[in-house]
Amino acid sequence: METLATRPIPAHVPPEMVGDFSLFSSPGMQPTPNGDPQAASAVVHQGPRIFYSPVNTRDGRGTWVVTRAQDQRRVLQDPETFSSHRSIFASALGESWPMIPLELDPPDHGKFRSLLNPLLSPRRVMALETAVRERAVSLIDGIAASGTSCDVMQDFAFPFAVNIFLRFLGLSDDRLQEFVRWANDLLHGDNVQRPAAARTIIAFIDDLAAERRKRPVDDFVSFLVQAKIDDRPLTDAEIRGTGVLLFVAGLDTVAAAIGFDLNYLARHPSDQQWLRDDPSRIVLAAEELLRAYPTVQMIRVATKDIDFEGAPIRKGDYVSCATMIANRDPNEFPEPEKIDLTREDNRHTAFAYGPHRCLGSHLARREIVVGLEEWLKRIPTFRIKEGTAPITYGGHVFGIEKLILDWS
Ligand code: HEM
Repeated sequence: METLATRPIPAHVPPEMVGDFSLFSSPGMQPTPNGDPQAASAVVHQGPRIFYSPVNTRDGRGTWVVTRAQDQRRVLQDPETFSSHRSIFASALGESWPMIPLELDPPDHGKFRSLLNPLLSPRRVMALETAVRERAVSLIDGIAASGTSCDVMQDFAFPFAVNIFLRFLGLSDDRLQEFVRWANDLLHGDNVQRPAAARTIIAFIDDLAAERRKRPVDDFVSFLVQAKIDDRPLTDAEIRGTGVLLFVAGLDTVAAAIGFDLNYLARHPSDQQWLRDDPSRIVLAAEELLRAYPTVQMIRVATKDIDFEGAPIRKGDYVSCATMIANRDPNEFPEPEKIDLTREDNRHTAFAYGPHRCLGSHLARREIVVGLEEWLKRIPTFRIKEGTAPITYGGHVFGIEKLILDWS
């Protein structure tokens, strides 16, 4: 991981509130063989409700870190005080348009959310399920036929998530490898690869929108180019902002969730067997795995000065609500470090709270559950291949790579 440039700690932050913790650089957050970055995040629960981390974004900014799930809910449900307007993607290109709906605040946010909600509703997801399952089966059958070991992220998790995204966009699989590469460069590339991938993705969305304007079909971008907000069509920037967000939000997150889940199961053969014995247990187990291995750190920007649980937050300060921290909060979950696949009443925050609650959560859940069901049905007891070690990392979206499983 690149070295983070640091900025000075603002004068209004009391020195005693500065914590020695970062989701980017603390132990376990840098690329780590056989790491467990979610467990490593839980150390913050030995400290205060809120503290200031001097370097806690990819571009080296400091953030307040809210450690209690209950306090994170207060932040995420108060967009007037804690705004989502950040232009993360565009700022990497020196531009400032928002990803939609993620970086809009109410009331604009609600208008786009109402427009997009039906596209990823439980009913729509049910309609996609057959295709999702077929894709999982064909990928896993291919893996099983070609030997007794594979690189899960490369051979299964990424192609699976990208394929479903392409289907959603109404595109064929021809460009799958190209998309996997764009997503990888965008999310994990260096300072040259990232902006280059961002420009490629923008050009792709712009071209697709122009094409669908000329010849609309039954797909997501055709829907966007024909949609109206406040009785007017969407602008080019709005179509781009929405297309880019779906690209960023739905690929890496699902792939990483599947990767962390299979990494856990590879190390716990009795849990594998327990799920194989009765696959109907997978739905509940997937919730516990989402609790224990969530991947997203949310950031909000204070719109005004506010004292929050003793922290003098000032207008413009960044406030981090990390799902991996909330999900290990002992005030919320008994024995949070224990992974209990039968855990009930699991009010985890993997998909966030409040107005920006994940729009794709129904689809994501189906992808994860179907992926695990088909994997466990088709692959016998698997473990981490001897002599290999998966690499985990922290950051804005936690991830895992080089996960080589073996079932010889
Ligand atoms: C396991 C997989 C996933 C996880 C853990 C996840 C997590 C999240 C989280 C935590 C947020 C809130 C971000 C914030 O408020 O800053 C979010 C928002 C969002 N997610 Fe997901 N997500 C996943 C999969 C997906 C998929 C598959 C899609 C689309 C197909 C998707 C689309 C979105 C969108 C559009 C938003 C923005 C919602 C809004 O601003 O109103 N996500 N997701």
